Amino acid sequence: MKNYRPTWAEINFEAILHNLQVAKKQAPHKTIIPVIKANGYGHGAVKIMKYLFEKGYDYFAVSTLEEAIELRKVNAEIHILMMGPILPSDLALAFKYKIEITLYDSMIIEEVLSSSYDLICHVKVDTGMHRYGLTDESSIIQMILKLQNSKHIDLKGVYTHFATADQDEKFYRIQVERFHQIIQKLRVKPKMIHMSNSSSTLKYEKDVNDTTHVRYGISLYGLSLDNKHYDLMPAMKLKTKIITLKHLKSGECVGYGQTYCAHQDETIGILPIGYADGFLRRNKNGDVEIRHKRYPLVGNICMDACFVKVDETIKVGDVVTLFGGLITTDEVAKRNQTINYEIVTSISYRVPKKYVRRSS
Ligand SMILES: Cc1ncc(COP(=O)(O)O)c(C=O)c1O
Repeated sequence: MKNYRPTWAEINFEAILHNLQVAKKQAPHKTIIPVIKANGYGHGAVKIMKYLFEKGYDYFAVSTLEEAIELRKVNAEIHILMMGPILPSDLALAFKYKIEITLYDSMIIEEVLSSSYDLICHVKVDTGMHRYGLTDESSIIQMILKLQNSKHIDLKGVYTHFATADQDEKFYRIQVERFHQIIQKLRVKPKMIHMSNSSSTLKYEKDVNDTTHVRYGISLYGLSLDNKHYDLMPAMKLKTKIITLKHLKSGECVGYGQTYCAHQDETIGILPIGYADGFLRRNKNGDVEIRHKRYPLVGNICMDACFVKVDETIKVGDVVTLFGGLITTDEVAKRNQTINYEIVTSISYRVPKKYVRRSS
Protein backbone atom coordinates (compact mmCIF):
# COMPACT_ATOMS: atom_id res chain seq x y z
CA MET A 1 0.00 0.00 0.00
CA LYS A 2 1.29 3.44 -0.87
CA ASN A 3 1.76 5.83 2.02
CA TYR A 4 1.01 9.48 1.86
CA ARG A 5 1.92 10.59 5.37
CA PRO A 6 5.39 11.66 6.45
CA THR A 7 5.41 9.23 9.36
CA TRP A 8 7.48 6.07 9.31
CA ALA A 9 9.52 3.55 11.27
CA GLU A 10 13.09 3.43 10.04
CA ILE A 11 14.50 -0.08 10.33
CA ASN A 12 18.24 -0.47 10.16
CA PHE A 13 19.36 -3.83 8.77
CA GLU A 14 22.96 -3.14 9.70
CA ALA A 15 21.93 -2.85 13.35
CA ILE A 16 20.16 -6.22 13.20
CA LEU A 17 23.24 -7.89 11.77
CA HIS A 18 25.44 -6.17 14.33
CA ASN A 19 23.17 -7.40 17.15
CA LEU A 20 23.52 -10.95 15.85
CA GLN A 21 27.28 -10.56 15.95
CA VAL A 22 27.00 -9.41 19.56
CA ALA A 23 25.14 -12.63 20.37
CA LYS A 24 27.65 -14.71 18.44
CA LYS A 25 30.45 -13.16 20.46
CA GLN A 26 28.70 -13.93 23.73
CA ALA A 27 27.63 -17.45 22.73
CA PRO A 28 30.22 -18.50 20.15
CA HIS A 29 29.36 -22.19 20.05
CA LYS A 30 25.63 -21.85 19.64
CA THR A 31 23.42 -21.47 16.60
CA ILE A 32 21.29 -18.36 16.87
CA ILE A 33 17.62 -18.56 16.00
CA PRO A 34 16.32 -15.06 15.29
CA VAL A 35 12.91 -14.70 16.94
CA ILE A 36 10.70 -12.79 14.51
CA LYS A 37 7.26 -13.31 16.04
CA ALA A 38 4.83 -10.38 16.29
CA ASN A 39 5.97 -9.19 12.88
CA GLY A 40 9.58 -9.21 13.96
CA TYR A 41 8.77 -7.34 17.20
CA GLY A 42 7.22 -4.67 14.99
CA HIS A 43 10.23 -4.46 12.63
CA GLY A 44 8.76 -6.55 9.77
CA ALA A 45 9.15 -10.34 9.90
CA VAL A 46 9.27 -11.11 6.18
CA LYS A 47 11.76 -8.34 5.40
CA ILE A 48 14.04 -9.41 8.24
CA MET A 49 13.81 -13.09 7.33
CA LYS A 50 14.70 -12.32 3.69
CA TYR A 51 17.60 -10.12 4.71
CA LEU A 52 18.99 -12.59 7.22
CA PHE A 53 18.51 -15.52 4.85
CA GLU A 54 20.78 -13.70 2.39
CA LYS A 55 23.30 -13.45 5.23
CA GLY A 56 23.19 -17.18 5.90
CA TYR A 57 20.55 -17.51 8.62
CA ASP A 58 18.02 -20.21 7.83
CA TYR A 59 16.25 -20.90 11.12
CA PHE A 60 13.57 -18.59 12.51
CA ALA A 61 11.15 -18.69 15.42
CA VAL A 62 7.64 -17.27 15.52
CA SER A 63 4.68 -17.65 17.82
CA THR A 64 1.57 -18.35 15.77
CA LEU A 65 0.71 -20.60 12.85
CA GLU A 66 -0.30 -17.56 10.79
CA GLU A 67 3.16 -16.08 11.32
CA ALA A 68 4.80 -19.37 10.38
CA ILE A 69 2.75 -19.82 7.20
CA GLU A 70 3.44 -16.23 6.16
CA LEU A 71 7.18 -16.95 6.27
CA ARG A 72 6.85 -20.32 4.55
CA LYS A 73 4.95 -18.76 1.64
CA VAL A 74 7.96 -16.57 0.86
CA ASN A 75 10.71 -19.06 1.56
CA ALA A 76 10.48 -22.83 1.07
CA GLU A 77 13.96 -23.53 2.47
CA ILE A 78 14.01 -22.04 5.94
CA HIS A 79 13.31 -23.92 9.16
CA ILE A 80 10.46 -22.38 11.12
CA LEU A 81 9.88 -23.07 14.79
CA MET A 82 6.41 -22.19 15.98
CA MET A 83 6.79 -21.55 19.71
CA GLY A 84 3.12 -20.92 20.51
CA PRO A 85 0.44 -23.57 20.95
CA ILE A 86 -1.03 -25.41 18.01
CA LEU A 87 -4.59 -26.73 17.95
CA PRO A 88 -5.03 -30.43 17.08
CA SER A 89 -7.24 -29.33 14.18
CA ASP A 90 -4.27 -27.45 12.65
CA LEU A 91 -1.76 -30.32 12.59
CA ALA A 92 -2.52 -30.86 8.90
CA LEU A 93 -1.39 -27.29 8.21
CA ALA A 94 1.83 -27.75 10.18
CA PHE A 95 2.52 -30.80 8.03
CA LYS A 96 1.55 -29.07 4.78
CA TYR A 97 3.76 -26.04 5.46
CA LYS A 98 6.58 -27.96 7.13
CA ILE A 99 6.34 -25.97 10.35
CA GLU A 100 8.21 -27.27 13.40
CA ILE A 101 5.71 -27.32 16.20
CA THR A 102 5.96 -27.02 19.97
CA LEU A 103 4.43 -29.79 22.08
CA TYR A 104 3.33 -27.94 25.17
CA ASP A 105 1.24 -30.48 27.10
CA SER A 106 0.42 -34.19 27.19
CA MET A 107 -2.86 -33.76 25.31
CA ILE A 108 -1.19 -32.32 22.24
CA ILE A 109 1.46 -35.04 22.42
CA GLU A 110 -1.25 -37.72 22.30
CA GLU A 111 -2.90 -35.91 19.38
CA VAL A 112 0.37 -35.76 17.49
CA LEU A 113 1.16 -39.42 18.18
CA SER A 114 -2.25 -40.60 17.01
CA SER A 115 -2.35 -38.34 13.96
CA SER A 116 -1.30 -39.57 10.56
CA TYR A 117 0.99 -36.62 9.79
CA ASP A 118 4.75 -36.64 9.61
CA LEU A 119 5.52 -33.80 11.98
CA ILE A 120 8.70 -32.13 13.16
CA CYS A 121 8.34 -31.42 16.86
CA HIS A 122 10.03 -29.80 19.84
CA VAL A 123 8.97 -30.73 23.36
CA LYS A 124 8.70 -27.77 25.65
CA VAL A 125 9.63 -28.35 29.26
CA ASP A 126 8.19 -26.07 31.92
CA THR A 127 10.98 -25.45 34.40
CA GLY A 128 9.34 -22.58 36.24
CA MET A 129 7.70 -20.15 33.85
CA HIS A 130 4.41 -22.05 34.26
CA ARG A 131 2.97 -21.03 30.92
CA TYR A 132 3.49 -23.69 28.23
CA GLY A 133 5.36 -26.96 28.69
CA LEU A 134 5.34 -30.25 30.53
CA THR A 135 6.24 -30.17 34.20
CA ASP A 136 6.56 -33.64 35.61
CA GLU A 137 10.08 -35.00 35.07
CA SER A 138 9.32 -38.70 34.73
CA SER A 139 6.39 -38.17 32.39
CA ILE A 140 8.50 -35.80 30.27
CA ILE A 141 11.12 -38.49 29.83
CA GLN A 142 8.47 -41.09 29.00
CA MET A 143 6.75 -38.81 26.51
CA ILE A 144 10.03 -37.97 24.81
CA LEU A 145 10.81 -41.66 24.48
CA LYS A 146 7.37 -42.32 23.01
CA LEU A 147 7.87 -39.55 20.49
CA GLN A 148 11.35 -40.79 19.62
CA ASN A 149 9.93 -44.26 18.99
CA SER A 150 7.17 -43.00 16.75
CA LYS A 151 7.60 -43.68 13.03
CA HIS A 152 5.99 -40.48 11.83
CA ILE A 153 7.33 -37.99 14.37
CA ASP A 154 10.71 -36.34 14.09
CA LEU A 155 11.46 -35.19 17.62
CA LYS A 156 13.97 -32.57 16.67
CA GLY A 157 14.24 -30.53 19.84
CA VAL A 158 13.67 -30.11 23.53
CA TYR A 159 13.53 -26.68 25.07
CA THR A 160 12.58 -24.51 28.00
CA HIS A 161 12.02 -20.80 28.53
CA PHE A 162 13.20 -18.52 31.32
CA ALA A 163 10.96 -16.37 33.47
CA THR A 164 13.60 -14.14 35.03
CA ALA A 165 16.85 -14.25 33.03
CA ASP A 166 16.92 -10.46 32.89
CA GLN A 167 16.32 -9.85 36.59
CA ASP A 168 16.82 -12.80 38.91
CA GLU A 169 19.90 -14.94 38.35
CA LYS A 170 19.00 -17.26 41.21
CA PHE A 171 15.75 -18.38 39.64
CA TYR A 172 17.43 -18.55 36.22
CA ARG A 173 19.91 -21.05 37.72
CA ILE A 174 17.09 -23.10 39.27
CA GLN A 175 15.44 -23.39 35.84
CA VAL A 176 18.75 -24.32 34.19
CA GLU A 177 19.31 -27.03 36.77
CA ARG A 178 15.82 -28.50 36.30
CA PHE A 179 16.29 -28.53 32.53
CA HIS A 180 19.71 -30.14 32.74
CA GLN A 181 18.40 -32.86 35.01
CA ILE A 182 15.98 -33.84 32.27
CA ILE A 183 18.44 -33.57 29.40
CA GLN A 184 20.95 -35.75 31.26
CA LYS A 185 18.36 -38.50 31.63
CA LEU A 186 17.59 -38.74 27.91
CA ARG A 187 19.21 -41.79 26.39
CA VAL A 188 19.02 -40.33 22.90
CA LYS A 189 19.48 -36.58 22.80
CA PRO A 190 17.45 -34.68 20.21
CA LYS A 191 19.43 -32.70 17.62
CA MET A 192 18.43 -29.39 19.16
CA ILE A 193 18.51 -28.47 22.82
CA HIS A 194 17.74 -24.85 23.53
CA MET A 195 16.80 -22.63 26.42
CA SER A 196 18.19 -19.12 26.16
CA ASN A 197 16.34 -15.95 25.27
CA SER A 198 18.23 -12.71 24.59
CA SER A 199 19.15 -11.91 28.15
CA SER A 200 20.56 -15.31 29.03
CA THR A 201 22.27 -15.60 25.63
CA LEU A 202 24.21 -12.44 26.32
CA LYS A 203 24.90 -13.05 29.99
CA TYR A 204 25.23 -16.75 30.61
CA GLU A 205 25.11 -18.96 27.51
CA LYS A 206 28.89 -18.97 27.08
CA ASP A 207 29.16 -21.18 30.16
CA VAL A 208 26.35 -23.57 29.23
CA ASN A 209 27.47 -26.86 27.74
CA ASP A 210 24.66 -29.06 26.59
CA THR A 211 22.58 -26.66 24.51
CA THR A 212 22.90 -26.26 20.76
CA HIS A 213 20.80 -23.20 19.91
CA VAL A 214 19.54 -19.95 21.43
CA ARG A 215 16.30 -18.11 20.68
CA TYR A 216 17.28 -14.49 20.30
CA GLY A 217 14.44 -11.98 20.29
CA ILE A 218 14.50 -8.50 21.77
CA SER A 219 18.26 -7.98 21.48
CA LEU A 220 18.16 -8.84 17.77
CA TYR A 221 16.46 -5.46 17.58
CA GLY A 222 19.08 -3.80 19.77
CA LEU A 223 17.02 -3.69 22.95
CA SER A 224 17.39 -5.34 26.30
CA LEU A 225 16.01 -5.27 29.81
CA ASP A 226 19.45 -5.61 31.32
CA ASN A 227 21.39 -2.65 32.56
CA LYS A 228 24.39 -3.79 30.59
CA HIS A 229 23.55 -3.29 26.92
CA TYR A 230 26.46 -5.21 25.36
CA ASP A 231 26.99 -2.65 22.62
CA LEU A 232 23.62 -3.42 21.03
CA MET A 233 22.35 -1.09 18.29
CA PRO A 234 18.62 -0.21 18.34
CA ALA A 235 17.17 -1.15 14.96
CA MET A 236 14.02 0.99 14.94
CA LYS A 237 13.64 4.75 14.88
CA LEU A 238 10.11 6.12 14.88
CA LYS A 239 10.02 9.24 12.76
CA THR A 240 7.68 11.91 11.48
CA LYS A 241 7.96 15.47 10.18
CA ILE A 242 6.65 18.83 11.31
CA ILE A 243 3.63 19.12 9.02
CA THR A 244 2.57 22.63 10.03
CA LEU A 245 3.29 25.27 12.70
CA LYS A 246 0.81 27.10 14.93
CA HIS A 247 1.63 30.38 16.57
CA LEU A 248 -0.19 30.61 19.89
CA LYS A 249 -0.72 33.84 21.75
CA SER A 250 -0.15 33.81 25.49
CA GLY A 251 -3.15 32.07 27.11
CA GLU A 252 -4.25 30.15 23.99
CA CYS A 253 -4.50 26.40 24.44
CA VAL A 254 -3.92 23.38 22.24
CA GLY A 255 -5.69 20.08 21.49
CA TYR A 256 -8.45 18.02 23.06
CA GLY A 257 -9.30 19.13 26.56
CA GLN A 258 -7.14 22.24 26.07
CA THR A 259 -4.71 20.77 28.58
CA TYR A 260 -1.76 22.91 27.52
CA CYS A 261 -1.96 26.70 27.34
CA ALA A 262 0.84 28.96 26.13
CA HIS A 263 2.59 30.93 28.86
CA GLN A 264 3.74 33.51 26.33
CA ASP A 265 3.64 33.72 22.53
CA GLU A 266 4.75 30.23 21.51
CA THR A 267 5.20 28.10 18.41
CA ILE A 268 3.74 24.61 18.33
CA GLY A 269 4.76 22.04 15.72
CA ILE A 270 1.99 19.67 14.64
CA LEU A 271 3.15 16.07 14.20
CA PRO A 272 1.06 13.72 12.03
CA ILE A 273 1.30 10.75 14.37
CA GLY A 274 -0.99 9.71 17.21
CA TYR A 275 -2.21 6.91 19.36
CA ALA A 276 -3.73 5.00 16.41
CA ASP A 277 -0.15 4.65 15.17
CA GLY A 278 0.89 3.14 18.48
CA PHE A 279 2.23 6.40 19.89
CA LEU A 280 0.06 6.23 22.97
CA ARG A 281 -1.53 8.94 25.11
CA ARG A 282 0.90 8.16 27.90
CA ASN A 283 3.58 9.90 25.85
CA LYS A 284 2.04 13.20 26.90
CA ASN A 285 4.76 15.47 28.33
CA GLY A 286 7.61 13.38 26.94
CA ASP A 287 10.30 14.77 24.64
CA VAL A 288 11.01 14.26 20.95
CA GLU A 289 14.21 14.87 18.99
CA ILE A 290 14.51 17.53 16.30
CA ARG A 291 17.86 18.56 14.84
CA HIS A 292 19.68 16.61 17.57
CA LYS A 293 17.90 18.50 20.38
CA ARG A 294 15.08 17.65 22.74
CA TYR A 295 11.73 19.41 22.46
CA PRO A 296 8.73 18.79 24.74
CA LEU A 297 5.42 17.31 23.66
CA VAL A 298 2.51 19.37 24.94
CA GLY A 299 -1.24 18.74 25.25
CA ASN A 300 -2.98 15.42 24.78
CA ILE A 301 -1.86 12.98 22.10
CA CYS A 302 -4.68 12.75 19.52
CA MET A 303 -5.57 9.69 17.45
CA ASP A 304 -3.66 11.01 14.41
CA ALA A 305 -1.58 13.92 15.66
CA CYS A 306 0.34 15.39 18.54
CA PHE A 307 1.97 18.68 19.48
CA VAL A 308 5.52 19.74 20.16
CA LYS A 309 6.62 23.09 21.55
CA VAL A 310 9.42 24.38 19.31
CA ASP A 311 11.58 27.47 18.84
CA GLU A 312 12.29 29.69 15.87
CA THR A 313 14.97 27.34 14.49
CA ILE A 314 12.40 24.65 13.68
CA LYS A 315 10.77 24.64 10.24
CA VAL A 316 7.94 22.79 8.51
CA GLY A 317 9.40 19.57 7.07
CA ASP A 318 11.98 19.07 9.83
CA VAL A 319 12.38 15.41 10.76
CA VAL A 320 11.25 14.50 14.27
CA THR A 321 12.49 11.30 15.93
CA LEU A 322 10.10 10.01 18.57
CA PHE A 323 12.34 7.19 19.73
CA GLY A 324 15.37 5.17 18.76
CA GLY A 325 17.86 8.07 18.72
CA LEU A 326 18.58 10.72 21.35
CA ILE A 327 15.29 9.69 22.96
CA THR A 328 15.81 6.01 23.59
CA THR A 329 13.15 3.33 23.36
CA ASP A 330 13.86 2.67 27.03
CA GLU A 331 13.04 6.27 27.91
CA VAL A 332 9.74 5.97 26.06
CA ALA A 333 9.03 2.65 27.78
CA LYS A 334 9.59 4.25 31.16
CA ARG A 335 7.33 7.15 30.24
CA ASN A 336 4.65 4.63 29.25
CA GLN A 337 5.22 2.57 32.41
CA THR A 338 6.05 -0.48 30.36
CA ILE A 339 8.97 -2.36 28.77
CA ASN A 340 10.70 -1.69 25.44
CA TYR A 341 9.14 -4.86 23.94
CA GLU A 342 5.72 -3.22 24.18
CA ILE A 343 6.87 0.04 22.61
CA VAL A 344 8.17 -1.51 19.39
CA THR A 345 5.44 -4.13 19.02
CA SER A 346 2.73 -1.50 19.52
CA ILE A 347 3.62 0.52 16.43
CA SER A 348 0.54 -0.04 14.31
CA TYR A 349 -0.07 -1.23 10.75
CA ARG A 350 -0.60 2.41 9.72
CA VAL A 351 3.07 3.23 10.10
CA PRO A 352 5.07 2.25 7.02
CA LYS A 353 8.55 0.86 7.46
CA LYS A 354 11.56 2.19 5.60
CA TYR A 355 14.51 -0.19 5.52
CA VAL A 356 17.98 1.26 5.50
CA ARG A 357 21.39 -0.37 5.43
CA ARG A 358 22.89 2.30 7.65
CA SER A 359 21.57 4.46 10.45
CA SER A 360 20.74 8.04 9.48
C1 LIG B 1 9.57 -19.25 23.95
C2 LIG B 1 10.32 -18.00 23.68
N1 LIG B 1 11.62 -18.08 23.39
C3 LIG B 1 12.35 -16.98 23.14
C4 LIG B 1 11.80 -15.72 23.18
C5 LIG B 1 12.66 -14.53 22.96
O1 LIG B 1 12.76 -13.77 24.12
P1 LIG B 1 13.57 -12.39 24.13
O2 LIG B 1 12.77 -11.47 23.25
O3 LIG B 1 13.55 -11.96 25.53
O4 LIG B 1 14.90 -12.68 23.58
C6 LIG B 1 10.44 -15.59 23.49
C7 LIG B 1 9.84 -14.28 23.58
O5 LIG B 1 9.07 -13.94 24.41
C8 LIG B 1 9.67 -16.77 23.74
O6 LIG B 1 8.38 -16.70 24.04
